[in-house]
Amino acid sequence: MDKSQLKIESTTLWDFPRQNYGDKPHGDNKFNGVTPAFLIWNLLQRYTKKGDLVVDPMCGSGTTIDVAKELGRKVIGYDIAPYREDIIQNDARKIPLKDKSVDFVFIDSPYSNNVKYSEHPDCIGKISCETEDFFLELELVIREIWRILKYGKVMAWLIGDHWRKKSGFIPVGIKIYERLCKYFEPVDIICVTRRNQTSNTGIWHKRAIQFNFYLRGFKYLFIMQKPERRIKKRRSGIASKKKCNRRKERDRRSK
Ligand SMILES: C[S@@+](CC[C@H](N)C(=O)[O-])C[C@H]1O[C@@H](n2cnc3c(N)ncnc32)[C@H](O)[C@@H]1O
Repeated sequence: MDKSQLKIESTTLWDFPRQNYGDKPHGDNKFNGVTPAFLIWNLLQRYTKKGDLVVDPMCGSGTTIDVAKELGRKVIGYDIAPYREDIIQNDARKIPLKDKSVDFVFIDSPYSNNVKYSEHPDCIGKISCETEDFFLELELVIREIWRILKYGKVMAWLIGDHWRKKSGFIPVGIKIYERLCKYFEPVDIICVTRRNQTSNTGIWHKRAIQFNFYLRGFKYLFIMQKPERRIKKRRSGIASKKKCNRRKERDRRSK
């Protein structure tokens, strides 16, 4: 796909046949779990402007960094196991940025322990979504994102569900959405078609029918907003004086 074919998506169903666009790489399409570059491009078009600070706390092969730079945004990419030199080593549960200093956050987190990202002991991708710990650790990330984001600004979280013969279906996306709603207000939910799945083979499709389960066909993209801060209005001097006079008048009449 060449760059001229890029368009801002107008529906809640996004399907990107290729990871990359244009003639330069955005992230590394060989990286296991790489995010489609179009997806980040679309989000930045809608929710940021030139000069805004974009942060990706789990930026993997650096797709967010490459797309954001190309669009003239400032960008910081962190990861527990940096894949390239411009990625800062950091745990997403404690982001070294000031409160309310960021304009947009994108994150494509592990969905369980199904992908081996690195040997790092603090990789959340080592924890199974079959345990409550997985969700507790990701909630710490949600709180950090809330803390660094400016009021009224937006974050987007890409995540998929889980099915295994032993565990059955685990609605990982919905469980994360419930936790996101504790801190943010929903803007929208996008359904992103899953391409390049290792299970996208004839044998897996046959098994899915034979053993009565579904192959994962999509991921959720939760777009959430940190609500505007409600500023308590101090009663103006005149208004409170009027109220005080009314109270005095009432007292005088009741005597
Ligand atoms: C799905 S990948 C991100 C893909 C990335 N958006 C890209 O396009 O290449 C998830 C990333 O989360 C990182 N990760 C896991 N636990 C982490 C943690 N505690 N802090 C920061 N990064 C973490 C992994 O190392 C992995 O690179």
